[in-house]
Amino acid sequence: MIALTIDGKEIEVEAGRTLLDAARENGFHIPTLCYHEALKPYGGCRMCVVELETPRGPRVVASCTYPVEDGAVVHTDTDQIAGLRKVAAQLLLARAGHTPFIQELAASVGVDSTPYTLPTDACVLCSRCVRACREIVGIGAISMANRGSDRMVAPPFSISSADCIECATCVQVCPTDAITLKHITDRDRTVHMWPSEFARGACRLCEYHADEWMDVGAEEQTVHG
Ligand code: FES
Repeated sequence: MIALTIDGKEIEVEAGRTLLDAARENGFHIPTLCYHEALKPYGGCRMCVVELETPRGPRVVASCTYPVEDGAVVHTDTDQIAGLRKVAAQLLLARAGHTPFIQELAASVGVDSTPYTLPTDACVLCSRCVRACREIVGIGAISMANRGSDRMVAPPFSISSADCIECATCVQVCPTDAITLKHITDRDRTVHMWPSEFARGACRLCEYHADEWMDVGAEEQTVHG
């Protein structure tokens, strides 16, 4: 077990956990955006920052990626942390302030307006969809493309990906509903977000298409574990 202190409270957690895990398991609230419990930590949005005491002074770290250390002294709500989260929330509001998730996230850190102006886009580039496609589904039909203000999520070359199996895992993990499903029939669906619609592909594990999957027996469905 690792012993550390969070906001003056001495706690113990298993080695290998993150500061975010340790904080949440012990009742401390830390806002997150790119973090998802089913995905590997990413450290992209900086909403989860905390202050770590070091011999050279306070150090700001992303709690979702930083591992617990014996004797660590952590502060989750200093003026510096509040200021950093506020700026992060203002930038998110400027981009996706029309989405309920971002409105609630900003409100949770006391932000309800923004001095910034950015092109409006429900996609906040948290990469949950990209990581879910790769880590959970094991495919990687989409990825982060371009740099700077042109950064976006897209299938390779922004054309329909033959690898997409329409599992809609990306839709499930998107916090801002930037990815939607268009139901063409009861059984056929198309993922919408990127410049092109995905052509329907078969699962690499079971080789069924999504609509065919509904008709196979329970015995065969165990192929997905
Ligand atoms: S939740 Fe930790 S950096 Fe996004």
